[in-house]
Amino acid sequence: MNILAIETSCDETAMTVVSVDEKINTQPNFKILGHLVRSQAEKHAAYGGVFPNLAKREHETNILPVLIQVLTESGLYANKEHTNEMTEILYLERYPELATRLGTMLENTEKPNIDYICVTAGPGLAPALWVGLSFARALAAAWDIPLIPINHMEGHVVSVFAQGPEFQVPSPEFPALALLVSGGHTELVVMTDWMQYKKIGATVDDAVGEAFDKTARLLGLSYPGGPQISKLAGQSTGQHDISLPRPMMHSSDYNFSFSGLKTAVRRLVESNEPLSESWKANLAAEFEAAVTEVLISKTSTAIDEFGIKTLILAGGVAANKNIRRAITDLSRDKKIDINIPTQDLTGDNSLMIAVAGYFRISHYLKENLSFPELDTIQAEPNWSITETNS
Ligand code: KG4
Ligand code: ZN
Repeated sequence: MNILAIETSCDETAMTVVSVDEKINTQPNFKILGHLVRSQAEKHAAYGGVFPNLAKREHETNILPVLIQVLTESGLYANKEHTNEMTEILYLERYPELATRLGTMLENTEKPNIDYICVTAGPGLAPALWVGLSFARALAAAWDIPLIPINHMEGHVVSVFAQGPEFQVPSPEFPALALLVSGGHTELVVMTDWMQYKKIGATVDDAVGEAFDKTARLLGLSYPGGPQISKLAGQSTGQHDISLPRPMMHSSDYNFSFSGLKTAVRRLVESNEPLSESWKANLAAEFEAAVTEVLISKTSTAIDEFGIKTLILAGGVAANKNIRRAITDLSRDKKIDINIPTQDLTGDNSLMIAVAGYFRISHYLKENLSFPELDTIQAEPNWSITETNS
C-alpha cells in the first residue's frame, strides 16, 4: 500500500510517501518514495518563537509546492494529456487562493497511486493544523481515498523505528517507556502494546524545548534556541560555580516543571551583565545539566516502578547530544533496550506520521472498521496520546 502523510502542526510543512509491503518476513517493510520537510524556523526567528498566524500563512503558501515535489520525487506525478474535467475542490473554503491552485493542479494531473492519506490532527497550533487537515480532506475527497487523522505525539513515539531509505519496524518488548521532549510537550508515557498508552507524567508549565528556547533568548541567541544552547554548552570548561535548581526532581510523581529554571536563569543573567562568552558557555552547560538530571531521575524511577523493558526518547529535544548520551547510559545501567530517532527524525517530520498511520490503517483493516467520514475529521489542538488507545 502507498501512504501519503502530511504534517503541519507547528512550523514545518512536511510530506512523505511510503510504500509498505506486508509480505516480506511478515514484518511490514517500509520504503520511502518521497520525503520533504520545509521548515519555517528562520521566518519565526524574528518573533523569538512560533507565531501561529505566520505559520498558517506559510503552510498555505508551501503546502501545494511540497505536495508536487514529494509526488514528483516518488515518481507519482504525471500530467494529463487532456485537461477537460473540472475537479470540485471541497473543504478549502477558508483558503480560496489555495483551492484555486489545487484545482488547477488536479485538473492537469493523473490521480496518483496513493491508497491512503494520513494527516496530523493534533496536538499542535490550531491555525497550522487546520491548513494541513483541510488540504488533506480536499485531496482525499478529490482522489476518493480514505483519510486517517494521526496524533503527533504517537508519531514522535514511532519515529524511533524509522530510518531511510528502507526499514522494518521491529517488535519492541513491552512495556515500553517513552520520554517525549519537544517545544510543546514533555511527557512520560508507558506503552503497554502498540497503540496502547498511559501518560504517567507531564510538565505542569513550560515544555523542556520551550525552556531551552527561552534560556537561549535570555542569552541573546535566536530561535530555535535548543541547538545553540547545546553548542554553547560544548564550549564550557566545566569549571564554574554557576548553580541552577533541579525543579521537582524529588517530587513523588512523574511531573516536570521548567518555568522556575528559566526564572533562575533570568536572575543570574541580570546580576552578571555584561556577560562574557565563557560565562554564557558555563551557564548553558549548567542549564543542560539541570534539565538532563531531572529527566533522567524521573525516567529511572519510572523504569523500576513499571517494569519497563524498552526505552524510547523522542521529540525535537532528543537531538540534544548530552540528553541522548545520558539516556543511553541509563538504559545500559538498567539493561534495557533503548530507541532514539536518527538526528533528522527528532524534529517534526511526516515520516513518523506515515509510520503511525500504517499501524492505524492496519487496525482499521484487521478489525473491519470503516474509515472515518471526511466531514467528521477535525483538528484537535489538545489531543492527548492516551485518547488514541485503540
Ligand atoms: O519536536 P519539535 O521539532 O517541535 C515540537 O513539536 O515542538 O521540537 C522543537 C524543539 C525546540 O524547542 C528546539 O529548541 C528543541 O526542540 N531542540 C533542541 C535541540 N534541537 C532542537 N533542544 C535541545 N538541544 C537540541 N540540540
Ligand atoms: Zn513535535
